[in-house]
Order: sequence, then structure tokens, then C-alpha cells
Amino acid sequence: MSVSQLHPDGRLRHLISLDGLPAATIEELLESAEALRPHAHGGMVYRQVLAGRSVCTLFFETSTRTRSSFQLAAVRLGADILNFDVSTSSTSKGESPLDTMRTLEAMGVDAFVVRHAQDGAIAGLAAGARPDTAFINAGDGRSNHPTQGLLDMLTLRQHKGSDFSKLKVLICGDILHSRVARSDLHALRALGTGEIRVCGPAKLMPDDATLRGCQVVPEFDAALEGVDAVMMLRLQRERMEQGLVPSLEGYFADFGLTPERLRRARPDAIVMHPGPMNRGVEIADAVADGPQSVIFEQVGNGLPVRMAVLRALLSGG
Ligand code: CP
Repeated sequence: MSVSQLHPDGRLRHLISLDGLPAATIEELLESAEALRPHAHGGMVYRQVLAGRSVCTLFFETSTRTRSSFQLAAVRLGADILNFDVSTSSTSKGESPLDTMRTLEAMGVDAFVVRHAQDGAIAGLAAGARPDTAFINAGDGRSNHPTQGLLDMLTLRQHKGSDFSKLKVLICGDILHSRVARSDLHALRALGTGEIRVCGPAKLMPDDATLRGCQVVPEFDAALEGVDAVMMLRLQRERMEQGLVPSLEGYFADFGLTPERLRRARPDAIVMHPGPMNRGVEIADAVADGPQSVIFEQVGNGLPVRMAVLRALLSGG
């Protein structure tokens, strides 16, 4: 199901995917997030921006970071926020996601922030909604997690500057099942990243179209040589068929990021992870909690990024 993410005049209508979004739109959202950052973790400065508008978080899958930061972002912009609890709702009586969304829309919701296990589900909901209802994809299947992609780019910019053509970035791990990796790849390509490397078990590599413009480096030590940033991915055991990874110990031995391995990257390289982490599976404690880790900065950047997206969709510019 395809819906246009942009109004005819180029303004953002929905945020479903970073794929196909103009680089200028991504950069504007990052600039907006940077400007909002001093006010994202408290204060009253922007509390009137979305006064009178209503935002609903509608999560058919679990979340800690994305859902909480959207809630706080909406509050800091002064919107009314409805945190819809799917587990205690009439979905258990068989109500479909589309009817659930339309029911909430009838109560005056202006924007839905949706997570769903099925690829394309959020675009499907957007296609069935009123023309002026906005949708933000908070993660669908293995396809897209656009606000994670944006907050990752914001974190990279803060540490490495806005000229991505100078950067070597490595994404390592379970790329096959990762919507974060797909959104990061769309954003890294749009921003003109100098070199994008990917690494992981052959069985956890997606198709060539997903990896266009990337160097596939099968061996982790070689992939780490001289990179400016390492983006580690969670091993998504809940989405995985049996047998794709023989053992967690074997996975850590081949693709776990340890302090010894990290020495192959540039000395000022940053370590990123979208969370939640499987400590001791894809990343060692000493790296996750070490001086090069920016993992909790990524979490913090979720707030201004989500404020910027809500403001772009709901404030008219
Ligand atoms: N990174 C991320 O999407 O985390 P949550 O699943 O906790 O929202």
C-alpha cells in the first residue's frame, strides 16, 4: 500500500519511511531537532506549539524507548496524548487495527504513532484514514523505523559533523531482521556517507537491493578497520527461524563487539546501538558502558527528533 509522505508543496504529511524522502527534508528535521534539543528534556518553552492537537500512540508491539519518548515529546509540545493500550483494548474481541484506528480517529486524534509487527501495516492504516490524519511509523516488521534512523543521524552529526562524505560507518549484526538498519541505510545514503560497510553472518544478510551502495565485509575484524562509527544491531531472536545462529556464544565470538576488537576502529570512533541490547551477545559490557559508547545519547536524542517530527506534521511547518 503506498501513501504519499509529502503534501504537494513538499511539507511532510506522514513519516512512514526515510526511503525516498528528499535529503533536504531529512536535513531540515535534523536541524529542527538540534534547535529543539535544549528544550527537549524539560522546560516550558514549546508547550503551546501543539496546544489543542491530539496524538495517539498505538503500539501493537512492545517498546520502551520509542513509545516513551513520543509521549514525552508530545507533552513537551503541549499536545493532548492518548497512550492506547492494545493489551486491554477491544482488539482482544477481534476488532481489526483499521477499525481500532478509525474508532480513535472519530474521537479527534490528529496524529497516530504506530508500531506493528507486519511490514507495510502503518502505510495501510494511513491509506484507510481521513486525509488530514497524520501517521508516524514507530516500527513496522523488518521494514522501517524512521525516527530511529533520524536520531541515529543526529547522534552521528553531533560527534562527527554534518559532512557525511568524510565518514566510514559500519553496521554490524542481524541486518536481515532489522528495520533500524534499513532506516539507517536510507538515511546514510541520502546524506552522502563516504563509505557504508555492513557485516554479519551470511544467513542474516538481506538482499542486494537493501544493501545497495554498501560494502559487504564478512569478517568483523576487517570490517572495523578505520571506521568512524560502529552501529551494532540487536540479534532479533523473536523474529528468527530456528538455526540461523548456531549458538549465542558462537555469535559473540564472531560478531560480538569487545574492547580488543574496537581498537581496530579509529581511536575516536563512536559505538552506537538502537537498544534494547543483548549484552554478551552482540556487545560486551565494557564497550556498551565504555568511553566510546553513545548509546544513551541516542536515547536522549529520541526526544528532540520526535518533537521535530510531531511539530513538522502537526504545526503546519
Ligand atoms: N530502539 C527501539 O526502537 O527501542 P524500543 O523497542 O524500546 O522502542
